[in-house]
Amino acid sequence: MTLEEIAKKMCAKGKGILAADESTGTIAKRFKSINVENTEKNRLTFRQTLFSSKAMKNYIGGVILYDETIKQKSTIGLSVPELISKNDAIPGIKVDKGAKSLAGAVGETVTEGLDGLRERLQEYYKLGARFTKWRAVYKIGNTYPSKQSLKSNAHALARYACLVQEAKMVPIVEPEVLMEGDHDIDKCYEVTTNVLNECYNELEIHKVDLKGTVLKPNMIIPGSDSSKKSSSVEIAKKTLECLKKNVPSAVTGIAFLSGGQSEIEASKNLNEINKINDTNFLITFSYGRGLQASALKEFGKDQNNENNIQKAFDHRAKMNGLSSKGEWSENLEKEAAA
Ligand code: 13P
Repeated sequence: MTLEEIAKKMCAKGKGILAADESTGTIAKRFKSINVENTEKNRLTFRQTLFSSKAMKNYIGGVILYDETIKQKSTIGLSVPELISKNDAIPGIKVDKGAKSLAGAVGETVTEGLDGLRERLQEYYKLGARFTKWRAVYKIGNTYPSKQSLKSNAHALARYACLVQEAKMVPIVEPEVLMEGDHDIDKCYEVTTNVLNECYNELEIHKVDLKGTVLKPNMIIPGSDSSKKSSSVEIAKKTLECLKKNVPSAVTGIAFLSGGQSEIEASKNLNEINKINDTNFLITFSYGRGLQASALKEFGKDQNNENNIQKAFDHRAKMNGLSSKGEWSENLEKEAAA
């Protein structure tokens, strides 16, 4: 498959991406919230339960894995990437090494992981990965994000994307503007505009073929502590406008992160965006919490109740699959709950 074909399959209409690439530290927080011990076995059990679920075939085009998981063998004998491919989804891998303090920019971060990346990519390709993820993080504040943070993160994203395409995989470019803060929706729009512009400038300088990329952005949304709430219609309008103005039309897929929205909000907002999508971008989800929160709760109640865990995951995957076509509705959520 060409890179463009891979990107199209990851974001095919009715499908999206499952972000199951929480680092060991992040999954520790998720497991703590449900009182489950953070062991390698428990991490595999939870993830394998999702990857064997019915919804995989119908609603999931790609799965982002963490270094530990891509090397694990499932208890049915297949390796984790084989299990995912068997369900007609593409295995992918998070390759950054996390957001680290940016020298000279107090309180801000730059994402690291470029050293030795070329060699690690070859290993991941052999393990079955056909796409990758790198996440840059930007906080909104009075003096954030600084020019220094915009420039250094965009530069790293572009160098990453270039190496990934050289290794014949599709880079997911994820510049995440965090929801934390009391800023309003227009501030989020303004900061995201600056972030996207800087990223696409650098991607152009590094000659990245945009057709073989997927953008993973935040939606344009008010800060989590903002006193002004926005409707899904407003979020959708501003998000699409921001993408149309700042993302080159050659980009194949745009797959949003959920970023701390509730599961329902994430589905509703994606649905509204797709209802008014008049672009050629394939617009879908690449959710972590937005796809797994309910399933995780079920896992906390009984780790061996595969049926209930999968039921919760299947439902969220189906709802988001519908949102990727603009066909989701609140009634479908209610019917499922009844
Ligand atoms: P959330 O959907 O939970 O924000 O996670 C997506 C992700 O992969 C962040 O890098």
